[in-house]
Amino acid sequence: MAVVDVCGPQPYQVFIDHDTTMKVGIRVQELGARKALIVHQPPLAAVARSIAQDLENNNIEPHLAAVPDAEDGKSIAVASELWDVLGRAGFSRQDAVVTVGGGAATDMGGFIAATWMRGIDVVHVPTTLLAMVDAAVGGKTGMNTAEGKNLVGAFHEPKGVFIDLERVYTLPEEEIVSGSAELIKTGFIADPKILDLFQEGASRHWPELIERSVAVKAGVVSEDLKESGLREILNYGHTLGHAIERREQYRWRHGNAVAVGMMFVAYLALQRGLIDESVVSLHRTILEAAGLPTRYEHGVFDELYEGMTRDKKNKNGHIRFVVLDGIGSCTRIEDATKEEMRAAYEAMMGD
Ligand code: GLY
Repeated sequence: MAVVDVCGPQPYQVFIDHDTTMKVGIRVQELGARKALIVHQPPLAAVARSIAQDLENNNIEPHLAAVPDAEDGKSIAVASELWDVLGRAGFSRQDAVVTVGGGAATDMGGFIAATWMRGIDVVHVPTTLLAMVDAAVGGKTGMNTAEGKNLVGAFHEPKGVFIDLERVYTLPEEEIVSGSAELIKTGFIADPKILDLFQEGASRHWPELIERSVAVKAGVVSEDLKESGLREILNYGHTLGHAIERREQYRWRHGNAVAVGMMFVAYLALQRGLIDESVVSLHRTILEAAGLPTRYEHGVFDELYEGMTRDKKNKNGHIRFVVLDGIGSCTRIEDATKEEMRAAYEAMMGD
């Protein structure tokens, strides 16, 4: 079993192994909870039930709550229902939430834990590649409003993350493809060995790829939980990526949009002389080999630009981009002109 430590004010561990879900009960018992709400997505009812059994075996009263899949599960209506469940079941400050599912389950379950009685413990059991290497680690929780994604949320770190490697081999292809974007991102921003392993064939290396990617994320959030500096690098590719997701009304998968976003910032960095052509080609080669898109649509740059002006990273009216100045090394561009961005977009589309 691999164990990745996340440091900071409230340290916790990420367990990566086969059948880690059977360790959740012991962890929740260690936390001193008497009850636990298992927030899960509907297709994961069987996993949720086996965790419920494990909780019972550890003298914890389990309650199950199914939440809708994907972004539909992150609404105020769902939050309100979950708060009602906790209220009816008499959850106290000592009790806990266990999330089982993809990023929407960890975001929403984490948010419920962050807000119930001003914060109770949460343990995550991420079941998608994206949630394993990104959403479940780092304490970001969130909910969507009519105005956008993740506009409401809190930093609330889990007390443990349990990654069951067996699940990776059962995920649908599109989940693997989309989750690979965040994994590849951690290679470009911090750990080039991830890129080598991807090129050798990701399916031969899932355990090491997941462990390395989690280690990158853990290292970053250990140093900067609240995104006051370093954590921003985890948003590599996300500035254009979020604009694409908004334009597509969230019908595009997050990772697919981030893949195009990484391609775009690679061209932006190339134009500034921060990286050379070979690094741009490496983006294209690895992303395409993973089945991810590396281009979007012609004639929509102005609309995407408008979307990028609304990015959370922006400061003083400037769009801020995380870019590479080498493989595994990041810097920022915050003075790019609209024409410079357009040129990068067109180069990405044309190459
Ligand atoms: N997904 C980016 C972050 O956790 O900061």
